[in-house]
Amino acid sequence: MARAPLGMTLWTTAFALCAAVSPGAGVERKAFGTMATGETVELFTLKNSKGVTATIIGWGGIVVSLTAPDRAGRFADVVLGYDTLEPYLKPNPYFGALVGRYGNRIAKGEFPLDGQVYHLPKNNGENTLHGGKVGFGQKLWAVREIKAKDGSALELTLTSPDGEEGFPGTLVTRVTYTLTEQSELRIDYEATTDKPTVLNLTNHSYFNLAGPGGGDVLGHVLRLDADRFTPVGKGLIPTGELRSVAGTPFDFRVPTPLGARIDAKDPQLELGGGYDHNFVLNGPAGTLRLAARVVEPRSGRVLEVLTTEPGVQLYTGNFLDGSPGKDGQSYGRRTGFCLETQHFPDSPNQPSFPTTTLRPGAVFKSTTVYRLTTEP
Ligand code: GLA
Repeated sequence: MARAPLGMTLWTTAFALCAAVSPGAGVERKAFGTMATGETVELFTLKNSKGVTATIIGWGGIVVSLTAPDRAGRFADVVLGYDTLEPYLKPNPYFGALVGRYGNRIAKGEFPLDGQVYHLPKNNGENTLHGGKVGFGQKLWAVREIKAKDGSALELTLTSPDGEEGFPGTLVTRVTYTLTEQSELRIDYEATTDKPTVLNLTNHSYFNLAGPGGGDVLGHVLRLDADRFTPVGKGLIPTGELRSVAGTPFDFRVPTPLGARIDAKDPQLELGGGYDHNFVLNGPAGTLRLAARVVEPRSGRVLEVLTTEPGVQLYTGNFLDGSPGKDGQSYGRRTGFCLETQHFPDSPNQPSFPTTTLRPGAVFKSTTVYRLTTEP
């Protein structure tokens, strides 16, 4: 039987996917850049019938762009990043990246597990941050389009060999990005191991709901469903305490602008140079629940974050230094914020925190949803 040319097969597949979802929705792909190894990195565009798009690359599993309408229906890209592959290949502020094996910090680059101490490269002062020197955001993930009943979807997989960056066990990680008709970017994580290990997977997108040129994010109004947070010491390592947010600049249970108290004379804010803290989300971990709602008053854009994870890192881009980004923009201090859904930082050294240990035979699963809406 004669085989259809590859291009035609791709077209037919793309068309079938579109047809399965709704008109206007689907996945498109094109070359984004070439790595030093000669491998091509493709840019996948997920689209829904409302015109919302998410572009994703296999390098780092990075969300390169995410567009959303404002209250007048004008679309803008609401995440920070780059126009080309090259800057993503170099160390950068983890723009849009999948973070692993261990998102956030592990104190002194070591942790005990089953009576053995494991040593990790230190890449953040004396601590290990975001998986070490070469984390999952600096790896080429395999990407394929998959069928999803509620949107267009991509599956990304990465196998991290036993001992990589000091972590035990071969870790096989699968991440599914789905753009739904409800204008949600849903991220489903799954991982298995062949030896006991620890992990903490997240996505490090920086949002500015005002869109390009929107300035700092201090006017964004945040509601965070967290009665407690994990205060830190030097190096932003949690002390182990779960502290009530009541009466502190960490109380976002009532919607409050990010900038309202960010420069308050508060030892915790001084340690972080602003917000760079893990919040203990209310409600049972393991259940998908609304964790955060952010409103950008000028555009009316709203971001809701739902997650099954026990915590979320609110990071107000305190380390952004004015370096160039997309479309000739420069990303100054606090021009993006992150809501990194996660287990608590340094959990492998904090027996009272929810466990981050994964054992052979078990499947780690978590889900986070970034939902984009508007309000009048
Ligand atoms: C996380 C950390 C911050 C910073 C950023 C990346 O959010 O908590 O301290 O390292 O990643 O720059």
